[in-house]
Amino acid sequence: MEKITVNGGRPLMGHISVSGSKNAALPILFASLAARGVSKIKRVPDITDTRVALKLISELGASVLRDGDTVYVDSRRLFFNTPSPLLVSKIRASTYLMGAMLSAFGRCPLMDFGGCNFAARPTDLHLYAFMRLGAEIKDDMIILNNPHPAEICFKKASVGATANALILASGIDGKSVIRGHASEPHITALVDFLRSMGAEITMNEDSLTVIGKELHGGTAEVIGDMIEAGSYLGLGLVTGGQVSVSGCPTEQLSAFCDFLSSVGASVSIESDKISCRLEGEGKFASVTAAPYPAFPTDLQPIAATVLAAASGGIIYDEVFADRFGYLNELSGFGLKSEVHHGYSEIFPSELYPGDAKAPDLRGGMACLICALGARGESRIYSPELLLRGYEDLEKKLRCIGANIKFG
Ligand code: UD1
Repeated sequence: MEKITVNGGRPLMGHISVSGSKNAALPILFASLAARGVSKIKRVPDITDTRVALKLISELGASVLRDGDTVYVDSRRLFFNTPSPLLVSKIRASTYLMGAMLSAFGRCPLMDFGGCNFAARPTDLHLYAFMRLGAEIKDDMIILNNPHPAEICFKKASVGATANALILASGIDGKSVIRGHASEPHITALVDFLRSMGAEITMNEDSLTVIGKELHGGTAEVIGDMIEAGSYLGLGLVTGGQVSVSGCPTEQLSAFCDFLSSVGASVSIESDKISCRLEGEGKFASVTAAPYPAFPTDLQPIAATVLAAASGGIIYDEVFADRFGYLNELSGFGLKSEVHHGYSEIFPSELYPGDAKAPDLRGGMACLICALGARGESRIYSPELLLRGYEDLEKKLRCIGANIKFG
């Protein structure tokens, strides 16, 4: 697919039920390699990232079967293999191959991981956790020569490193303790899956305690995607319409809803349904992206479009200080901003149609939101980046009244 052509400027109205969360499904799919058995994972979104993840785990001998939104992974006949560099380079979540392969084979090659290129994305914390659990690096390989439980103290909360530490520690006999961990809902979802595989895990605010065991196949139902939900709420607001979302626990979107209220939007939450609308000009607001339960960095590009449609504001990002490259693309739609190290200023902007290249997954969604908010014809190139994370994007957008053509 070459581009998405958008005829924007009409208020989008309606309801979207979100899919299973990309960032929750991915570590669970890779963690299934740590079992000797069959895992059953429901509500797996059918998006490029999960397709690549399933190909990567098949390359290691797992039999994978998708039946609707349920995926079965049989990890009883795994064999060591070097994962295809091309597949590894496509998704950030291929970092989970490290924890999964160390657990399954006791070794894993060092690889060049891919994914959104919005900031430097080091792996030192992942490697630190593996070293603590008895691994060492020899030539181009991480080798788990001396697996043992350990205390792991992260100096920074990292979703990926926490997930990898959990995956590896769950299969090592004995009690490991992880401190300074990330607490995103997808970490809780991974903990639930590892528990279903036989690990005993206790979650406290300041630590995760893991009693590792020989793991059997597990079961999971992937939680709803809070980033997808926030993206569609922002989209409705920017187009001057009103979109409601359901399918993900509303408390996960508390920080995002607080942000919407702070710009002057009226936000309504009824059981698992959230909707929002901006009447009038809104208010100048500021928001800081930081580890959960604070405002999620993945919704920071969406926040920029909301601020531009309201009265402007400031975005700070404490997770990825320079995650503002996407603003360059948004300027092609008239979104005015000034970027600094660690924060950016967003000015109230009259959007106009334009052409843009999706810079990354969430930056691409911000481009699409601007295009749908601007009256006239716009084009978004490299739409495959968007399809990495938004299931049934075309269908969902059409059902809220978007005039778009994929192709
Ligand atoms: C995951 C999500 C991504 C989200 C991010 C933060 C997936 C596939 N991706 O990415 O969508 O934007 O969480 O919520 O779930 N860091 C280090 N050393 C490391 C690892 C991370 O310094 O070894 C730093 C990063 O540079 C960043 C911070 O830790 O400043 C958080 O990154 P992390 O939570 O690891 O992000 P990912 O797991 O890559």
